Amino acid sequence: MSIQVRDQVFSLTTNDSLYQMKVDQYGILNHTWYGPNTEMDMSYIEDYPEISFSANLWDTEKSRMYSLNDRLLEYPCGGISDFREPALLLRVPDGSSSLDLRYYSYEILEGKYSIEKLPASFDRDHKTQTLKITLKDTVYDIFVDLLYGIFEEENVITRSVTIRNMTPFEIQVKKAVSASLDLPESDYEVIHFHGRHAMERLAERTSLSHGTFSIGSRRGQSSHQHNPGIILAKNNTNETSGEAYGMLLVYSGGFEADIEKDQLDQIRATIGLRSENFRWQLKPCEHFCGPEAILSYSEKGLGVLSNQYHDFIRSHLIRSSFVHQKRPILINNWEATYFDFNGEKLLSIAKSAHELGIELFVLDDGWFGERHNDDSSLGDWFVNEKKLQMPLRQLVEKIHALGMQFGLWIEPEMVSENSKLYRDHPNWVLRSPLRDPARSRYQLVLDMANPEVVDYLEQVFTKLIEENEIDYIKWDMNRSISDFYAPSLSPKTQSEMAHRYMLGVYDLADRLTSRFENILFEGCAGGGGRFDAGMLYYFPQYWCSDDTDAHNRCFIQHGTSFFYPISATGSHVSAIPNHQTGRNTSLYTRGIVAMAGTFGYELDLSELSPKEKEEVKEQIKVYKSMQELVLEGDYYRLSDPNQQNVSAWSFVSKDKKKIIVQAVVFEHKPNMKKPHVFLQGLDENRWYRRKEDGHLFTGKALMKAGLFLPDQLGTDEACMIELEQIDSKNREAQ
Ligand code: DGJ
Repeated sequence: MSIQVRDQVFSLTTNDSLYQMKVDQYGILNHTWYGPNTEMDMSYIEDYPEISFSANLWDTEKSRMYSLNDRLLEYPCGGISDFREPALLLRVPDGSSSLDLRYYSYEILEGKYSIEKLPASFDRDHKTQTLKITLKDTVYDIFVDLLYGIFEEENVITRSVTIRNMTPFEIQVKKAVSASLDLPESDYEVIHFHGRHAMERLAERTSLSHGTFSIGSRRGQSSHQHNPGIILAKNNTNETSGEAYGMLLVYSGGFEADIEKDQLDQIRATIGLRSENFRWQLKPCEHFCGPEAILSYSEKGLGVLSNQYHDFIRSHLIRSSFVHQKRPILINNWEATYFDFNGEKLLSIAKSAHELGIELFVLDDGWFGERHNDDSSLGDWFVNEKKLQMPLRQLVEKIHALGMQFGLWIEPEMVSENSKLYRDHPNWVLRSPLRDPARSRYQLVLDMANPEVVDYLEQVFTKLIEENEIDYIKWDMNRSISDFYAPSLSPKTQSEMAHRYMLGVYDLADRLTSRFENILFEGCAGGGGRFDAGMLYYFPQYWCSDDTDAHNRCFIQHGTSFFYPISATGSHVSAIPNHQTGRNTSLYTRGIVAMAGTFGYELDLSELSPKEKEEVKEQIKVYKSMQELVLEGDYYRLSDPNQQNVSAWSFVSKDKKKIIVQAVVFEHKPNMKKPHVFLQGLDENRWYRRKEDGHLFTGKALMKAGLFLPDQLGTDEACMIELEQIDSKNREAQ
């Protein structure tokens, strides 16, 4: 049983963790524990002396020992004597913002809860239970449902919150985080993922000082700058040992994550929707559902934590049937041509790709309206037959006739001023009534909060896809939102706009991906600007970054791997000198780095030499032979590229029998020791044979003494080493 309720103690157990709450004598829901399964009521850890300047609940009468400001709380509210970061802030008509939530009831439901209009994890095997704990304000009929999904085998607890207004008046939700986690100790560091366009999700680890450490996005998208996930790791936690907690938000819009170290050196971590400028109006009998947060705990280091997230996201979040399928190896024309192409050029790229074994041709930006540069035509999703020299359908047929699939780029949420759509519907654009909106990449943002816009886009893209037998769609989004004003909303509801925009995007993504289940969708937002768990619900893969430089990709893919599975990480081999950095790396290195993702190419293959073409053929053969391991196996980071001269990672099959180690050594320094890496996730009592030369190692040796990488001259030299477990009985015969 994953949920146990005894004496007002709620114990949620997974294979390797216990999450526990307790209702205390005043009806307050305490968060008593999240960590290894200690198999007992953990409320004894809330043993506080009197702390001055911590106010006391009225009900405690003259006792000065009980203060909400000290205790570990499950869903803390501001304004009733807890002075730390609140999880929930409301406003009622009398002007007050305080809520005093006390335990009201609980329910155990079979199966996993879902969340209205929002992406959320699911359980197709019906092994999951949901716990719903309802809290109620002491004065107003305001109810808060805390929802927990318990995924035992995956070591995951999901959380979500619903606020129900049963008062006779309208209230406003000002802040409602998806998860708040109070921890009794403070010896944690936070790992978070920051960046910028073409340099996303760089892992940064910082210690916590007193006060609040905060990350977030006010860009209306989860953003290149901060990803909506944080890891709290004990100071001594590394890839293979130590405790770590992950909190990942299933949301693609503005968010905030705060980690506060309080006066007692306790930690409160919260993650949820961005609350700045947020006010959600709730009329009587209405409710508000917040997005989901995925929590996971490991006491075996960051590698295990990441694999828990990877397995969970693959099995319980990505709903596309492609998630467990081998993806076609693709060629994308963007870096090969940018806007400068015609039908003939595209066909020649497709033909040379097909000859090398590539299976899917993707036509990127520039096929519609008068889109010859990025200054026009977004919104005019009509094929430019003059540029293509034929109808799109004909181009698709020609590609299909080659034996390849056909993919198309779209950017549904955007519009160019120079477009028919904008001329016809100037009021479909986000902008405040008396101001001109900010342009970014010359484009404006459609009002996705307007159902009319969503209906229109559904109809346009449905027609486009149906008429042209498309096999793959790349859904791009190339700017942040700056003008948070939707013409379709009343002045009073403008503070709902950012969230309503996301609900509109999810609605459109839901409609199109449900209707076209057989189409492989890849998400994109100027590279990985919206690479998040919300988007992965609809799109099984996501373009990781516009930076295709193999060296930089080592850092970007390293950071991405903390939460997101490799099967979701779009990665391509591109031309040199690299278009973003001017760096030259060998074709071999570019291939190895792109293989740590959904593999593809993004260059004009017809410009390759015969020798390079042979190498591409070989890469495709190699990737196909390892594809299942990459998509379904465990993934381990074997180095920290920020600290070491090497970026190394490995794929290990679930049965621990097949291992592939890939690495890039950044710099060869004269007379340096051979670089070596310590493998992870092997069976330490088994023997492994290095394929290349038959050398035998025990799993223990590979994990404790390490494996040497070839010592090669040059910079950014990659290598790949394959190992397989052998039957120990036959070792003598090997
Ligand atoms: C940004 C994407 O990340 C690129 O791959 C490409 O599709 C361009 N947009 C096209 O405008």
